[in-house]
Amino acid sequence: MSEHTHDDATRRDFLYIATGAAGAVAVAGIAWPLVSQMGPNAREQAAGAPVEIDVSEIEAGQLITVIWRGAPYFVRKLTEVEIKAADDAQQSEFRDFQPANERIAAAEGATPQWAIVAANCTHLGCVPTKVDTGLNGWVCPCHGSIFDVTGRVIKGPAPINLPLPPFVFASEDTLIIGTDQA
Ligand code: FES
Repeated sequence: MSEHTHDDATRRDFLYIATGAAGAVAVAGIAWPLVSQMGPNAREQAAGAPVEIDVSEIEAGQLITVIWRGAPYFVRKLTEVEIKAADDAQQSEFRDFQPANERIAAAEGATPQWAIVAANCTHLGCVPTKVDTGLNGWVCPCHGSIFDVTGRVIKGPAPINLPLPPFVFASEDTLIIGTDQA
């Protein structure tokens, strides 16, 4: 169960994507973990260079949105309740089943577990909104698709799961999206 109210979670976790400006992310609401994007310059990132993210300030139950190749990706630190719900869910609950452990990531030797998924709905591309109800992790505001905390589609019209980008953990606190090479 979430330790926060729904309103708190919504304020805390909702990011608006400024679609007009390449790579721009505006943070709405209260304090938010800083997304550190070191290394490649803006032009290289637009061309698809990997994006390095310091995830050390993200708490369980929070997510950030990262831009890679001009598209948004969610990086969500899962709670114990969410991980158990994803593990326990039955295949019949999903439209596009995939085992949870194939969609949950962790740095080698580290406890925190992460869902790192594309943030565009696989129906028509809207950005789903985070929800905190155990198994349910996102709902799409456009036509009501529901995705679990690992991005697996539970309810359509979205036909398939939120895709996973290539990524790697360079360390427990450093995630790189855009490559699977350490
Ligand atoms: S765009 Fe998400 S349900 Fe239609």
